[in-house]
Amino acid sequence: MKRNKMKKQSPNSSHRYFGEYGGRFVPEMLIPALEEMERAYFFYKENRAFQQELDNLRRNYSGRPTPLYFAENLTELGRGCKIYLKLESLNHTGAHKINNVLGQALLAKKMGKTCVIAETGAGQHGLATAAVCAKLGLKCRIFMGEKDMKRQYPNVFFMRLSGAEIVPVKDGAKTLKDAVNAALKYWIEHLKDTHYLLGSALGPFPYPVMVRDFQSVIGSEVMEQLRKCEKRLPDVLVACVGGGSNSIGFFYPFLHNKDIELYAVEAGGRGPEKGENAIRFGKNPRTGIVQGYRSYFILDENGQVLPTHSVSAGLDYAGIGPELAYLYDTGRVCFDSVSDQEALSGFQILCREEGILPALESAHAVAYALKIAGNFSRKEIMVINISGRGEKDLFIAARELDAENWLKFLNEETENG
Ligand SMILES: Cc1ncc(COP(=O)(O)O)c(C=O)c1O
Repeated sequence: MKRNKMKKQSPNSSHRYFGEYGGRFVPEMLIPALEEMERAYFFYKENRAFQQELDNLRRNYSGRPTPLYFAENLTELGRGCKIYLKLESLNHTGAHKINNVLGQALLAKKMGKTCVIAETGAGQHGLATAAVCAKLGLKCRIFMGEKDMKRQYPNVFFMRLSGAEIVPVKDGAKTLKDAVNAALKYWIEHLKDTHYLLGSALGPFPYPVMVRDFQSVIGSEVMEQLRKCEKRLPDVLVACVGGGSNSIGFFYPFLHNKDIELYAVEAGGRGPEKGENAIRFGKNPRTGIVQGYRSYFILDENGQVLPTHSVSAGLDYAGIGPELAYLYDTGRVCFDSVSDQEALSGFQILCREEGILPALESAHAVAYALKIAGNFSRKEIMVINISGRGEKDLFIAARELDAENWLKFLNEETENG
């Protein structure tokens, strides 16, 4: 496991790319840290004791396997294929993000790191990181844009309760992109004892591969669960897509089977105008190198990252992971979007039909799935990944769907307090 040995084993860097996407475009001083991570990741990937420890945490701490649930009422409403829901929402801390956090935090400990930093948008990645750091005895610092801190305050509150320090990011649009920049800057200054626990399948190599692998537990479980209850594979998979971790983890075990249709749903926001959505694959998709990797980003003519908007903080991001960028080019994954309003209606529909409160991010997948369900026959099977649960979105949903009563309740609470 010496550095020079590793270099000899990897004379070229093609393993860091998906087609032309990915790579490792970072300042020189980050290279040793990323190489150390790469060596550690590929070593522990094959290490039985590590995998058993991870498996134990997945089962007994996070509550895996998460259910694969036949949504009978949603199926009726969709008037097409049979719809199943993969309930990542039932993970400890409320979303798929913990799948990656458990893997990376364990890896950080094996690498002898005592501190973990992370960026967060919706707060789900931050919350999972704070919780797992509390459990594993790691110091935790979370970078979060000020705008996201305001709109996802319940998660800020819970992260602090778990002992994490929250660093408000006041730069740029004060959202996820700015939190990533701030975390990277901090990491460069604290490389010795700190692991940067990146929250999606993007960034410089090895993150896109490592995060995808840790998230692939979603797709692997779906495959096994569906084999048991339906004795077959699915026909259609639908997931929302921000940076790409829940979608690539869900799709990955099925990629080679070309008969299975894969749909990734982006945030259509308030409309197609600049700054009003987070659609990377719109009319004129642009590629560039941002935050350490080559991929598709929402850029202006000069290659500058443009502001984004989504009602869901977790999809409010200008970039997408390099593997999904490649799968867009090859046509293997179909990308489309739904608007804020459609997502809010998906949120209500899942509550009304199935009594399940999805995260607003996942509500994008629900809304889109219902649009296309009718294109498939009753014999076909669709699985929607419910990447997270919606408690964190209480105040956004309250404002959009029931403002008057909530205002009354909050005023009364304030007066009583
Ligand atoms: C519940 C939930 N779903 C989806 C996402 C989008 O991220 P990704 O595309 O990496 O799965 C987030 C991000 O915070 C999230 O919290």
